Amino acid sequence: MTRRQWTGLAFLMVGSVGCFGDPPAIGPGDVVTVRVFSSDSVLALGDTVSFSAQGLDLTGAFVVGRPATWESDAPNVATVDDNGSVVGAGVGSATITATIDGVVGQATATVSLPQIAVGDSSLVFAAIFGDTDPDSQDVAVANRGPGSLTGLTIGTIQYGSGGSGWITTTFDATTAPTVVTVRASLGALLPGTYTAIVPVQAAGAGNSPVNVDVTFTIVAPPSGAPGMLAVIAEPGGATANSVFTTQPVVEVRDSAGVRVFGATVPITASITSGDGTLIGTTTVIPVNGQATFTDLQIRGVQAVGDTVGFGGHRLEFTAPATMPDTSVSFNVAVSFSYNVEYMFGLTSTSCLACHSTFSDPAVLVNQPPALNVTGCGTLVVPSNSTSSFLMQKLDNTHSGGCGSVMPPAGVLSTRLRNMVRSWIDEGAVEN
Ligand code: HEC
Repeated sequence: MTRRQWTGLAFLMVGSVGCFGDPPAIGPGDVVTVRVFSSDSVLALGDTVSFSAQGLDLTGAFVVGRPATWESDAPNVATVDDNGSVVGAGVGSATITATIDGVVGQATATVSLPQIAVGDSSLVFAAIFGDTDPDSQDVAVANRGPGSLTGLTIGTIQYGSGGSGWITTTFDATTAPTVVTVRASLGALLPGTYTAIVPVQAAGAGNSPVNVDVTFTIVAPPSGAPGMLAVIAEPGGATANSVFTTQPVVEVRDSAGVRVFGATVPITASITSGDGTLIGTTTVIPVNGQATFTDLQIRGVQAVGDTVGFGGHRLEFTAPATMPDTSVSFNVAVSFSYNVEYMFGLTSTSCLACHSTFSDPAVLVNQPPALNVTGCGTLVVPSNSTSSFLMQKLDNTHSGGCGSVMPPAGVLSTRLRNMVRSWIDEGAVEN
């Protein structure tokens, strides 16, 4: 049938060329050309679009009153009914053919999904460190395809190196056209350039996600030369012979108190009050205006002689040509192995000359007394030196019938006894 139609058209065309300049050989009213019109050739899934067909005679005049028959070459993409109503059935293209009096005309119906279009595919934010956050920016989101673009969301934001979590977004509405507002927050970000990819997505769109690239440039505030130091993180968690669990951080500021990001003055820590020796990397070059110490510890707070002291420690931080700063006062916890156990073995105290079991805190903690002194309590009650029989023996406050003071040669110095007392009251742990 198709072949016969095309043969007829070819014959007519040959005829018209042969008779050029002559009066039409075919009488008015015979259809030689069919034109197909559509209200929109791109449609969404499920959308209906009207196609119409018009027959023309050889002179180009409309031939009225001739019904067309309709056919789609791909009904899984677009169907067409007797009236030329085309319905989108699947993504793709279909050729819609109208036939009038055996002559065919064709048009294409393209079925497509909604398409996300963003008004701005890259945003640039800028701010000064320590200043207010930059203004938010709006990105228009439109549907560049057919149908309705709904269910718009922002996917997982991918942050470049250096910082994350600094973008927040809000949609005006989740159906296009809409606006998504993007904010960049300084938070704890240091001066530098940060990047992120913000995916605008919708499950029903043919091009989801569409990415918006975001760049955030943070510059250091203008500052003068280094003028003073400021301890911004105090040392903490100090135990004799162990690195502080919280290391100090010291900031370099100019004389007006503004952090000097470019400062390279070496900052040195030293003990300004309290016993012992400061061990570790005591001089640190600041990065971004801050010196972060990493491995400081206080050693030498030990029961050698009577000069041990675990409280009242302060560190001083100095740098050339700047005002120094000092940490708050902190305590250095007693270490069992480094202080107590060590003291047990000293010749001056000589506990281990008569006892062989003081080397392990587990032997002491929550154990009843050994030897012949039963009924005298528990050797070490964690966090309770008063109730600990070990302490009572050292202080000579144990009850009668519980043996003699330890060591038998005489009561130890207050400082040595206070060290054992501190270890028990700090929880009697092997720290
Ligand atoms: C000269 C030997 C000698 C020395 C030194 C000595 N002790 Fe004792 N210690 C004893 C004897 C003997 C007993 C058992 C009789 C008593 O309790 O008096 C004892 C008992 C104790 C007890 C009672 C609990 C138990 O397990 O029996 C404690 C606690 C104790 N000593 C701690 C110490 C400490 C701490 C030192 C070091 C500061 C020390 N002693 C040094 C001989 C000694």
